[in-house]
Amino acid sequence: MDALEAIRRRRSVREYTGESIPRKDLERIVDAGRLAASGSNQQPWDFIVITDRATIKQLKTAAHWMEKAGAIIAVVMNPSSRWWVEDGAAAIENMLIACTALGYGSCWLEGYTLPREEEFKNLLGIPKAKRLLTLVPVGVPVEWPTKEKKPLVEVLHWERY
Ligand SMILES: Cc1cc2nc3c(=O)[nH]c(=O)nc-3n(C[C@H](O)[C@H](O)[C@H](O)COP(=O)(O)O)c2cc1C
Repeated sequence: MDALEAIRRRRSVREYTGESIPRKDLERIVDAGRLAASGSNQQPWDFIVITDRATIKQLKTAAHWMEKAGAIIAVVMNPSSRWWVEDGAAAIENMLIACTALGYGSCWLEGYTLPREEEFKNLLGIPKAKRLLTLVPVGVPVEWPTKEKKPLVEVLHWERY
């Protein structure tokens, strides 16, 4: 699948079969994250790949359906970098697209993660000075959602708004 096709197909997947994911594929997904653009090339990120079922069970307080993910990737950012949120977002989107290209479902789980940030930082041993931006569950999808998007003609403007 080429990059544009993966971008077109990507959707948030919240239902997984429970199958595990080969380590090699998880490495390729994180590799896509760490290759993202970042302000001043600071690359202010770390990625924790969680496959341990007991830990996944504790993380599922953010979203019960995560329990059937094959893995969860925690995106850890250094907030001393000026563009840490934008950089984190770029890395997350790269990983979501990589998941799609490899046939896995994934979801950007930030709204449910931030309220539990301190709890999850303790659980995952994340240093105090770092921020846990998002959890990205990755799994074999039960089905592929087809959420509608605004049509191109509605959002594309040529020359002026
Ligand atoms: C910043 C951000 C935070 C998000 N947080 C959550 C979340 O906490 N829980 C969740 O189920 N989905 C979350 N999502 C996924 C969105 O709900 C999803 O991207 C949106 O509904 C569009 O659907 P699509 O991803 O299938 O295109 C988040 C997405 C973004 C970009």
